[in-house]
Amino acid sequence: MSDKVMKRILVTGATGQIGSELTIALRRKYGRDNVVAVGHRKQPSETLLSSGPYETADLTDKASAEKLVKKYEIDTIYHLAAILSATGEKNPQQAWNVNMGSLYNILEIAREQKLARLFWPSSIAVFGPTTPRISTPQETVLLPHTMYGITKVAGELLCNYYFIRFGVDVRSLRYPGIISSEVLPGGGTTDYAVEIFYEAIKKRRYTCFVREDTVLPMMYMPDCIKATIDLMEAEPSRVKRHDSYNVAGMSFSAGELVAEIKKYVPDFRCDYKPDFRQAIADSWPMSIDDSLARKEWGWKPDYDLADMTRDMIEKLSKRHGEGKL
Ligand code: SER
Repeated sequence: MSDKVMKRILVTGATGQIGSELTIALRRKYGRDNVVAVGHRKQPSETLLSSGPYETADLTDKASAEKLVKKYEIDTIYHLAAILSATGEKNPQQAWNVNMGSLYNILEIAREQKLARLFWPSSIAVFGPTTPRISTPQETVLLPHTMYGITKVAGELLCNYYFIRFGVDVRSLRYPGIISSEVLPGGGTTDYAVEIFYEAIKKRRYTCFVREDTVLPMMYMPDCIKATIDLMEAEPSRVKRHDSYNVAGMSFSAGELVAEIKKYVPDFRCDYKPDFRQAIADSWPMSIDDSLARKEWGWKPDYDLADMTRDMIEKLSKRHGEGKL
């Protein structure tokens, strides 16, 4: 299967934080009509609608996804649709049903339709409170305390099984918190690291839902897109893991992020009011060892905290800064 060329791509979760930017990047690379964006309930942006085909589907219903795969003669899927960690804790049953149900359906479709390749994101949420938190290794304890994390561990095992048992060329990354300037994330624990920029630009004030000393691994969207596409384009011989690869961008505390933003917005003030998401953050790593991804398929991030902050402030000031409100 792996020697097939990727020509017709479907992106699920295309209206989400990562999907909306990944779809545009894929359309630029493979041609607008070759990348079908699939959303569910959320309203797609004008850019997403005007730059190529857009469809809606309920991915927990296999027939609904299958119809699109056949209609567009899809050979590659980026399956991003999922319920994130904080929303998942409010309704764990729904998180299990959506995350596992849709992944199982997509894997089955990949097997039956002999798709060339499949991408599915895992997360730093696969780790738990008993995992080493600094420079967390590729191979380590996977005992998460969130339902979201449990669906990611189970998903990694399922992906690996479909590769070994059925030869489905499924590839995966354990995304850290993703920071971006186009579409806000929804329902995650790392969302503060995005919201803080919007509030700093618009109001000069932010109330952060984790403590000042909370350190988590993060990545800027251009690196996230690069990692995803590079992994999907890597020669099959270079991709030895089909559960998921650790990837890292940067690590910082909420306080360090505030200090960096203050270089551009000196009167910015951040208060801290930790809520239930603090316990989730405390159960995740502070930094990630991604040496295997670097060695096997050449992963290397471009953005650190300073580069990312400069770019975020520049983009958001243009859109939301004074005079634009
Ligand atoms: N950003 C995600 C979350 O917070 C982690 O994968 O849920």
